[in-house]
Amino acid sequence: MRPFFCPIFTFMSAPTSPRSIRIGLAGLGNVGLGVFKNLEKNGDLILQRTGANLEIGRVAVRDLSRPRDAAVGKSLLTGDWRELIADPDLPVIVELIGGTTDAYDLVCGALRAKKIVVTGNKALLAERGQELFALAEECGVPIFFEAAVAGGIPIIQVLQEGLVGNRIVSIHGIINGTCNYILTRMSGAGLSYEEALAEAQEKGYAEADPTLDVSGWDAAHKAIILASLSYGFWIPAKDIYVEGVDTVSITDFRFAERLGYTIKLLSVIRADEEGRVEVRTQPTLVPLSHVLSSVSGSFNAVLVNGDVVGETLFYGRGAGQDPTSSSVISDLCEAAAILIHGPRHSGFVPHGLYGKSKPIDETVSRYYLRLTVDDQPGVLAQVARLLGDRGIGISSVIQPDDLADTTGSTALVLMLDDAPLGTARAAIDAIDALPCVQEKPAWIRVETLLG
Ligand code: HSE
Repeated sequence: MRPFFCPIFTFMSAPTSPRSIRIGLAGLGNVGLGVFKNLEKNGDLILQRTGANLEIGRVAVRDLSRPRDAAVGKSLLTGDWRELIADPDLPVIVELIGGTTDAYDLVCGALRAKKIVVTGNKALLAERGQELFALAEECGVPIFFEAAVAGGIPIIQVLQEGLVGNRIVSIHGIINGTCNYILTRMSGAGLSYEEALAEAQEKGYAEADPTLDVSGWDAAHKAIILASLSYGFWIPAKDIYVEGVDTVSITDFRFAERLGYTIKLLSVIRADEEGRVEVRTQPTLVPLSHVLSSVSGSFNAVLVNGDVVGETLFYGRGAGQDPTSSSVISDLCEAAAILIHGPRHSGFVPHGLYGKSKPIDETVSRYYLRLTVDDQPGVLAQVARLLGDRGIGISSVIQPDDLADTTGSTALVLMLDDAPLGTARAAIDAIDALPCVQEKPAWIRVETLLG
């Protein structure tokens, strides 16, 4: 007699004979060790969910003599990543060595050897993604890169799968944990920039070379990847605009707060009506009333606006050992699914609706402008005229009495209406040249995030 009750998990359970999948891991830094430990910790669960027993079969490290965590057996280690490529029993290679030279050779070698590649290397993909995905296509093996953007937030899957039926209207992202940590500690605890950076490094958020973080380029690399996935062509790095956090001052935080804003390193991605794509990463005023303003510490958040779904927000830890290894493990499970069930695509699907970058000088936003000027009548009128001549309106002005000093100078802070960057820069240069302006103007873009 057929059973009356047939539990649904009978149809959903993994194949009964588990498949062992050996992985070659290149790089045993913070994230590599996290992958190792978390595969040990949750291997049984992953086996039940995927039908695959994921096992690190070989680990390539740069320096064999360095002391290692006891969890990683010495017999697994090699000092030469080429051994991973040459080993026919490693169908999946995880690239976590960073940089764009050895990592490039390693990824190309793995693809040519028909191995699935998993990488967290945003610089590599942002700079050489186009050629790497062409090679992946040619070799018939994919590259997965969930860990390359926003640490533990599965934003790549969101764009490739969850929102596949949407045109992406815009993305606003806080996608560098180190910079967000620095800005949060500067604004909240009054730490100096250097103190806050040292803390972020101690906690393992920063890249091996932290100038990549603080210059804005780590976030910019991630923005290039998100934009390229969203708009279907690889955005050239030369077409994007990047500024770091090292110029942000405590003074600007205080003025921003008086105006109802905070400062975040924000990556903005959007296409205009002609399909021209704008990608920029820079310190930006964000309204205190908007949820992005409360994303603090090493947390990341990505606000994606799709034409069908509307606004969606993804929040989580954007850096650190466990969150980032969670994304690597998700890619390993994708790799396992392909090895068990067959291929899907190369990891990046180009499409043809877009294809042009928008010149940065044509990108439009509001601006915060802080001037140090002579404390005398008529100064505001001179500044307003230079802005008005170029069609730039002023939405508010503050000239705080408490910041007038005995040398006869004072701060003058203006919020400017929407203007193309090129026009705003020309106006700011003209203002800078006024004799009544005593210091180089400080300006920051403003996103109202009104949808
Ligand atoms: N250094 C990066 C960050 C790590 O701070 O966000 C994740 O890419």
